[in-house]
Amino acid sequence: MSKEKLTWKIEAEVYDSINDLLPEHKKLVESAKEALKTAYAPYSKFNVGAAIMLDNGEIVRGTNQENAAYPSGICAERTAMFWANSQFPKEKMLAIAIVANKEGEVNLTPVGPCGSCRQVMLEYEVNQEELMKVIIQGEGGQFYVFSSAGDLLPLKFSKDSLG
Ligand code: THU
Repeated sequence: MSKEKLTWKIEAEVYDSINDLLPEHKKLVESAKEALKTAYAPYSKFNVGAAIMLDNGEIVRGTNQENAAYPSGICAERTAMFWANSQFPKEKMLAIAIVANKEGEVNLTPVGPCGSCRQVMLEYEVNQEELMKVIIQGEGGQFYVFSSAGDLLPLKFSKDSLG
């Protein structure tokens, strides 16, 4: 029998309507939703749009980009973050909104970012020494707002772990 148990707890604020979000988060979600139109997902038909709010007020968007060689594709979040850090390496990423829809379906539950995207969010969050908020929505459903990307990665591994 183990000596003790550890528990990790994740909290998110839940909103039913986009109008209940902070104005800047509403704008960001709208931008992620707009990005959905340019998702390239011919194989999964699962479209994802991401929008990042930078310190300088810029909003940077990205979508999932699939490939016939499946692993060569990339998620919307990483498309957006890599673009943001390439164009504006000095700007902090204050929040990222992620919206997803599946062709022909509505009311998805919010889609949690994949493990690789969580790891990349953590990288930038740790470097910028400021929390990155994460807002997720299945297009047509509720909004979950996390106050930190790190919250999505219990037992996180970052440069601090390398010593
Ligand atoms: N996808 C994202 O864009 N973000 C995620 O966090 C999860 C998955 C994409 C990758 C692929 O194009 C499609 O969704 C189905 O996995």
